[in-house]
Amino acid sequence: MSANALYTDLSGYYDLMCVDIDYQAQSHCIRRLHQLFGNKGNTHLDLACGTGPHVRHFIDYGYQSSGLDINQPMLDIAATRCPEAQFTLQNMSDFNITSQVDLITCFLYSIHYSDGIEKLKDCIASVHSALSDQGMFCFNVVDKDKINNDLFVRHSAQHDGSHFTFHSGWHYCGHGEKQSLKLSIEKSTADETHRWHDEHPMVAVTIKQLKEILKPYFEVHVFEHDYEKIIPWDNNSGNALFACVKI
Ligand SMILES: C[S@@+](CC[C@H](N)C(=O)[O-])C[C@H]1O[C@@H](n2cnc3c(N)ncnc32)[C@H](O)[C@@H]1O
Repeated sequence: MSANALYTDLSGYYDLMCVDIDYQAQSHCIRRLHQLFGNKGNTHLDLACGTGPHVRHFIDYGYQSSGLDINQPMLDIAATRCPEAQFTLQNMSDFNITSQVDLITCFLYSIHYSDGIEKLKDCIASVHSALSDQGMFCFNVVDKDKINNDLFVRHSAQHDGSHFTFHSGWHYCGHGEKQSLKLSIEKSTADETHRWHDEHPMVAVTIKQLKEILKPYFEVHVFEHDYEKIIPWDNNSGNALFACVKI
């Protein structure tokens, strides 16, 4: 089985792992930021869209929404959830679209899937060229210097006669530009238990460093990682929401 089993062989369990995520609140918050800072257009692209939960909400808001992801099994689920949308199999560090869009999003820390700082810069350059005039790019991040390797999120669910337990947490060794996301899935039925362990390599960056990378391309607004309230980032929190307007 691959090191990113959750997005390939185990993609059928992804939505079960994310059942506690408030996708509606996330999508609504970004739509609000787009109304405040964006160019009033309604075309949208979701990078690393996964199984398409945000695309679903944006279509329901009236956007012409699309998604890209690097794993076809995730896109297959997205296409079932959002038959109206176009999905393409692409790497977000180097993607092409046929016409520019007004809003590009990247949720659930997925921008960290860029393979190192250079690839992150390539992703930002690709986003900039894919956006229309004053188009907006929104995403969330974790600051490498604020990662606590001992913290993890645990979640359990019952599904199809099995009990599932999911764990996820960041790991950063304290130097360099690589961090990882450690994930485990345990599936127990009456007589057997299966366990899978994923470790996803990701780019490590600070929020201040990222602001500097974005500045040549965008007017950069940074907010607290709170999808209920729009509050400016306090220059200290370890998680943040970025809303970047193309210049
Ligand atoms: C944590 S999931 C997030 C999915 C979705 N955005 C959500 O909020 O539920 C990360 C997604 O990133 C995708 N991914 C990983 N590396 C990628 C890359 N280089 N380009 C595009 N997608 C990527 C994975 O296949 C997976 O679907």
